[in-house]
Amino acid sequence: MPPLSMSSVASALRSAGCVFAEDEAELILATARTPDEAAAMLDRRVAGLPLELVLGWAGFRGLRITVEPGVFVPRRRTEFLVEQALAAAPAASVVVDLCCGSGAVGAALAASLDHAELHAADMDPAAARCARRNVGPLGGHVHVGDLFAALPDTLLGRVDILAANVPYVPTGEVPLLPSEARDHEPLVALDGGADGLDVLRRVAAGAPSWLAPGGRLLIETSERQAPLAVETFRRSGLSTRLAVSDEWDAHVVIGTNTS
Ligand SMILES: C[S@@+](CC[C@H](N)C(=O)[O-])C[C@H]1O[C@@H](n2cnc3c(N)ncnc32)[C@H](O)[C@@H]1O
Repeated sequence: MPPLSMSSVASALRSAGCVFAEDEAELILATARTPDEAAAMLDRRVAGLPLELVLGWAGFRGLRITVEPGVFVPRRRTEFLVEQALAAAPAASVVVDLCCGSGAVGAALAASLDHAELHAADMDPAAARCARRNVGPLGGHVHVGDLFAALPDTLLGRVDILAANVPYVPTGEVPLLPSEARDHEPLVALDGGADGLDVLRRVAAGAPSWLAPGGRLLIETSERQAPLAVETFRRSGLSTRLAVSDEWDAHVVIGTNTS
């Protein structure tokens, strides 16, 4: 098969409704190793598969994060959580990425910290498998299980950064999500319960036992949920503030273990 031209790929993508057709065409042609592979990728994208799953990777803080079918695609907005964690604890030596999905958050933290011990955990075995591909090369350990139950007890009281991008879409709003999320990402990665804060509440309640003195818990939330999320952190005994990025429309609750 002859190589596809940039303009023919962009035009097919545009006809399929892709808003950033030129950018996507460039990424597909740069990622495909053969013309046949480029054609197959184009077909999958035109059929509605999210771009990151077509490419097999997502860009996140300058890293190429491997993504696999059935695993949450890391969002650029979550780079703000990583930025806040690094600003709050620039010398962190023990890092946990809870609800890690692909492990993008943990990988980005480990890539910016000197010799940090990294643990990533998720209850979904498919996510854990994917995370292993991303954090393994950085020396990270991946665990499978429900929140803190997945972690080794040796981490109790030692965690400097506990980052958790938990599911936070209220159950009733899941059907309103774009089809790329609804049809291609698992419900367990999206559904945060009636008010979207079920998993956040459990993480905030458990965090103080795992955090080192001065250790930070960081969780992404929405503007609407932020006041209740802040209150939840405070009730668990953490000294709490909210960081907001207008650029990314991102809200991150940051709790510090002051005990
Ligand atoms: C919104 S996704 C975030 C993934 C990743 N941290 C990121 O930012 O790309 C939430 C993740 O939490 C995991 N999860 C949901 N409930 C969990 C639980 N009770 N214990 C462990 N992981 C859970 C899901 O499997 C999913 O991978």
